[in-house]
Amino acid sequence: MLTAVIMAGGKGERFWPKSRIKLPKQLLKLTGEDTMIQSTVKRISRIVDYDNIYIVTNPDYASIISNQLPEVPTGNILVEPMSRNTAACIGLAALHIEKRCGEDAVMMVLPSDHMIRDEDEYIRVLEKAAQVAQHNTNIVTIGIKPDHPETGYGYIKMGQRITARGMEPVHEVEAFVEKPDKETAEKYLETGQYLWNSGMFLWKVSTIMKNIKIHMPKLYKALSVIRQAIDSDDAESILYKEYEKLDSISIDYGIMEKADSVYVIPADFGWDDVGSWTALERIEEPDENGNIIKGNILSVDTKKCIIQGGNNKLLALLGLEDLIVVDTDDVTLICPKDRAQDIKKLLQEIRERQ
Ligand code: GDD
Ligand code: MG
Repeated sequence: MLTAVIMAGGKGERFWPKSRIKLPKQLLKLTGEDTMIQSTVKRISRIVDYDNIYIVTNPDYASIISNQLPEVPTGNILVEPMSRNTAACIGLAALHIEKRCGEDAVMMVLPSDHMIRDEDEYIRVLEKAAQVAQHNTNIVTIGIKPDHPETGYGYIKMGQRITARGMEPVHEVEAFVEKPDKETAEKYLETGQYLWNSGMFLWKVSTIMKNIKIHMPKLYKALSVIRQAIDSDDAESILYKEYEKLDSISIDYGIMEKADSVYVIPADFGWDDVGSWTALERIEEPDENGNIIKGNILSVDTKKCIIQGGNNKLLALLGLEDLIVVDTDDVTLICPKDRAQDIKKLLQEIRERQ
């Protein structure tokens, strides 16, 4: 049995001010006609029935998700009482899938806010990866060839290839390092042995539960209590009580850096995690001045800018270069493109002032 779990509780802070706590990146149309989560679900529905697609999110986003995705049964939208990062999110989904499909079911865990250019290749690789996960007790990851020393990703050190030539390449993983510093990322890039972690994971329910038990005993204990109560009248209050006690830990730090039976499948399907405003330059075709423009905007002598907004008013720009300008009803952001990753700092400052 093949199931998909879409993680959709993140805040997507680097797309501020368009993305807000109340409306994060995965629920926005950053590119094209569909929101990021609609594209994710549509893509994976080619190989997983809607009945077997689960979405894990928090109370703020649950009803928007339900409205955006009427084809996913409401019972498959799992609502966490609060955000405790991706390890808890995955653990909760594992419990529900175990209950409905048994512990041999394969979970394909996917982020809700990535872009894939070559969908046919993506589907082909995920189908292969699901087979590998089904026939092994390993965690299966999808690795992307890095082209710059990105510090916002996990790095996977490829070990020995376990499949014969001519077959899909599957490698053992020698090491997994979540979000290294710049210097380390540069070293990794030079060796040619590292891949970026795409943030997609495949495993059997039994495999991830075993790993949680070994590497995150506190989470395992909470999940055991939640499992016991899953069908009871107290299910909601017990879920709340157990979640409240959990530390916020990502699957990458909590499991991936520690697990020893991990495989990686190197893949190339035009993956982009659309991590910040400047990602739009890779995704959309700039106009003749190198600008990416959306909204009611007048620009003169303006080059290589990313400009959004001006829906209810005209946003007029003159003589600008290499800037991000995002205008919303209540906030306007203006910053150099090379500071796009630092928007989180701005948010921190805003929070401190409140
Ligand atoms: N349900 C739920 N609950 N979902 C969450 C939570 C949570 O508490 N926190 C994050 N998510 C969702 C996000 O919405 C996103 O779809 C996914 O989980 C990954 O979280 P991010 O916060 O976007 O992670 P990241 O981008 O910093 O890092 C991860 O992805 C990179 C690739 O994009 C890591 O796996 C890195 O190793 C990886 O390289
Ligand atoms: Mg991300």
